[in-house]
Amino acid sequence: MTTITAKKPTKATSKDLPADAKTQAKIFLIGMMGSGKSYWADKLKKKLKVPAYDLDSLVEMMEEKSIKEIFEEDGEEYFRKAEAKMLRLFSEKKQFIVSCGGGTACYNDNMKWMNKHGITVWIDEPVETLCERLSKEKFHRPLIKDLDDQSLKSFLKKQLEERTAFYDQCAYRLNSKELSETTFLKIIASNA
Ligand code: S3P
Repeated sequence: MTTITAKKPTKATSKDLPADAKTQAKIFLIGMMGSGKSYWADKLKKKLKVPAYDLDSLVEMMEEKSIKEIFEEDGEEYFRKAEAKMLRLFSEKKQFIVSCGGGTACYNDNMKWMNKHGITVWIDEPVETLCERLSKEKFHRPLIKDLDDQSLKSFLKKQLEERTAFYDQCAYRLNSKELSETTFLKIIASNA
């Protein structure tokens, strides 16, 4: 795993990328719920003009149900299988930015599969930040919808401890100081 140090990042733009870098960009964004995977996928999509996909939304489309309904009606194990199946469809695609679900990295050998088929980037935000973001938008997230703020914090802390072994298998780990478009462009350029 490479930790990017971006103490004083020079301002890179997509023009600085090697010509074939964009066409080869295959990025899997992983990390906890609320870490900003979808936000960054959307930002990068605009910057790079590379298609971005949200794995949860694709599963919802495939199942014609919300994630909350899938958990309630079919159970988590069913969801994990559907998620892994959807993920594997990316082996056919030439360029993409995928924002994974928080648990994607931790089930069905998905981490190994993603490392084989693209670049895995862990967006590693502190539990305090996750808590702040998620307390306002937990209702559609089946794993945390019934938790009050105190329980949410302990849940996320424990979950991060359990999931770190999986997230740690990423190619790049970015914390809040290193999160910038420039850092992402550098990662894509160095993997072109
Ligand atoms: C989950 C995270 C969710 C979604 C599901 C399970 C998890 O995705 O896949 O509710 O196990 O952490 P987000 O990380 O996009 O909220």
